[in-house]
Amino acid sequence: MAVASFGPSENLKPVRLTVPEPGPDEVVVKVDAVAVNPADLGMREGRYPWADEPRLPLVPGYDLAGTVEVGNADWPSGTKVIAITEHKNTQIGAYAEFVTLPTRLLALAPEGMDVAQAAALPLAGLTAIEALSALDLAPGATLLVNGPRGAVGSLTVQIAKHRGITVVANGEGPVDAALDTVGGERAQAAFDSVRDNGRYVTVVPEFWVPGGPFTEARGIKPQVVAAQFETDRLRELARLASEGVLTTTVGEEFPLTEAAAAHARLEAGGVRGKLVLIP
Ligand SMILES: NC(=O)c1ccc[n+]([C@@H]2O[C@H](COP(=O)([O-])OP(=O)(O)OC[C@H]3O[C@@H](n4cnc5c(N)ncnc54)[C@H](OP(=O)(O)O)[C@@H]3O)[C@@H](O)[C@H]2O)c1
Repeated sequence: MAVASFGPSENLKPVRLTVPEPGPDEVVVKVDAVAVNPADLGMREGRYPWADEPRLPLVPGYDLAGTVEVGNADWPSGTKVIAITEHKNTQIGAYAEFVTLPTRLLALAPEGMDVAQAAALPLAGLTAIEALSALDLAPGATLLVNGPRGAVGSLTVQIAKHRGITVVANGEGPVDAALDTVGGERAQAAFDSVRDNGRYVTVVPEFWVPGGPFTEARGIKPQVVAAQFETDRLRELARLASEGVLTTTVGEEFPLTEAAAAHARLEAGGVRGKLVLIP
């Protein structure tokens, strides 16, 4: 599913594209489920900071669960995996039946999770880990998560608790630190809950949802973070999910060919859980 021209959800249409031959340290993965992330909407609309000039038709999609189709010695065909596409740089997304990926973007699929739940893990999980890394909290510290039921928010809550951090809800404070996953003016209350000289991180940049607190005040320096696609972190997420420490919530599944309907659904708002496309 790709956009030949940027625009509304109906611009997302089926296309027939050649799957790139895997190079050294690459495999072809058959996609079993692919998550719809908020950034995919911006990609489709043409308001996304691509590393290079976008090449159309463009296939969105960060997150997938799949099965290695053309493998190598370390990742033989048939291996169940989760993966992230890094398509901000490559422009090779996962709204597809097959995707060619470097093996550093793969982890073994978590045991006990279905493919839709597993596909909801990589981007949100890597973002949560990066946010917690930037906050650098010791066990026992207090953390407020703005948007705790969202994908990034809920995984941050789960990982933080696993690390012994005390997670509190909006309205409680003062706290040592806050993580915002909502952005805009709705992030101000989270910032205001942080104690003087505490820490505040948001995963929602100004260009994406304007109006958030980005000015230093009371010794708190707002920091914007983005997911880092580190192999060790992806595999750690998969391991924690296998151990039952992490779960994800799937809102609704759509056939891949109905990606446009999934985008319209996400845009309409009020979705609980990740929307997932099934090829
Ligand atoms: N920087 C990065 O690398 C990166 C990576 C991933 C995501 N993001 C960004 O992070 C944000 C969250 O992503 P996600 O995947 O976690 O999305 P999500 O699952 O849709 O979660 C969004 C969260 O925002 C909350 N929210 C939405 N509208 C709200 C409102 N009017 N008032 C209060 N809360 C509201 C939701 O709360 P409810 O549960 O109450 O609806 C939910 O908790 C998105 O903007 C996304 O683009 C950034």
